[in-house]
Amino acid sequence: MDKIRIIGGVPLEGTIRISGAKNAALPLMCAALLTEKPFTLTNVPYLADIVTMTKLLMQHGVEMSMTDAHARQTMGGITLGRTLVLDASNIFNKTAPYEIVRKMRASVLVLGPLLARFGEARVSLPGGCAIGTRPIDLHLKALEQMGADIELDQGYIVAKAPKGLHGAEIYFNMVSVGATENIVMAATLAQGTTVLRNAACEPEIVDLVQCLRGMGANIHGEGTPTLTIHGVPTLGSVFHHVMADRIEAGSFLACVALAGGDVTLTHAPVDAMLPVLEKAREAGVVLHTPNHQTLRITSQGKLEPVDIITQPHPAFPTDMQAQFMAMMLLTSGTSTITETIFENRFMHVPELMRMGANIQLKDRLAIVKGVPKLNGAEVMATDLRASISLAIAALATPEETVIHRIYHLDRGYENLEAKLSACGADIVRMK
Ligand code: UD1
Repeated sequence: MDKIRIIGGVPLEGTIRISGAKNAALPLMCAALLTEKPFTLTNVPYLADIVTMTKLLMQHGVEMSMTDAHARQTMGGITLGRTLVLDASNIFNKTAPYEIVRKMRASVLVLGPLLARFGEARVSLPGGCAIGTRPIDLHLKALEQMGADIELDQGYIVAKAPKGLHGAEIYFNMVSVGATENIVMAATLAQGTTVLRNAACEPEIVDLVQCLRGMGANIHGEGTPTLTIHGVPTLGSVFHHVMADRIEAGSFLACVALAGGDVTLTHAPVDAMLPVLEKAREAGVVLHTPNHQTLRITSQGKLEPVDIITQPHPAFPTDMQAQFMAMMLLTSGTSTITETIFENRFMHVPELMRMGANIQLKDRLAIVKGVPKLNGAEVMATDLRASISLAIAALATPEETVIHRIYHLDRGYENLEAKLSACGADIVRMK
């Protein structure tokens, strides 16, 4: 299993190009199931999760081709290009199997599109978990309100709507990015009007809606908690540029903030990052945004304590929580993080403590007391954002850190070592 070795303590200097957003590209790829016409995405990132989604869609019958022959990369036996053309004109299988869905929760996003276009779908419950413990209840309840008949059979959601879905007034009793995406996609082909209240406002949903509108969908209100979708009989072809990855950009911001240096991010989604930029400034990081795609980060590595509460957009994102925890490790005071989105998202804490961090956990609250320095250690990545927090801490530590199980990093960070090495970091991948 691959690991990464980092010897930190060196300020980072240079330029990093931000890739297309994983969390935008995954639902966008599922949207291809809504049409029999060619569906083109540009700015697709090279990531393990994109490979997984490619495998899932191909086994449904989606044909994939790449128009940018010069910019291809093979991962996990699948060749990816930055420009993907998806052709869902010949769907022969409406089952999303456990072997694929268990690897990636976003696989459930095929449910809405398959059901809306074909009137049937069979999708494994994600993560091998029961609905109660890792729920998709909001997705299922909304589809039932739209006329779907849903049963659970041997770990699979079996959804049927032989006469098609119909519009409905839907209120989500909590904000869910995935449920909003699934139901917006399903509603584009439903008969009549669907209104979603307490919908997620994340920038990736705005990107999805813009793509669906390009296909001919009639949707209003993206970026607000109320989305109105007037169903249309069919959707057509589209050419859509995947938005830039705000979490990748925020992660590099945290690297420079803690290690110190002067790095410019290009192709960054500055407007989608405001809550993160605000907290970084409060922590003492100097930021310049000469335009909407460029973010210059300057830091001496001496940061102030800050308090963070993760909440749905436009508040501080849970996907940046672990990175900001790393930024809190070396301050001269006490910082706090309250995680309100996921109940078990502090798995990086024991690993950071192996590097000398002083963190106390009280249920959903983490209290981080700054220490004068960290030490190198062998640490284990436990999930995607947890693993980048270990890399951020390691980049500020002059000793050797080895991060194991970095397949988690490969799910969400494209060419991480190359991007950081180009800024002077001593980081290598080892077998
Ligand atoms: C997406 C992101 C993930 C991010 C998360 C929250 C993708 C591919 N993933 O995940 O990176 O961390 O949003 O910003 O875009 N919930 C329910 N019932 C449901 C659905 C969700 O109770 O039916 C709960 C979840 O357990 C969680 C909370 O709602 O506690 C938010 O989850 P959700 O917004 O759905 O996250 P994902 O869409 O899975």
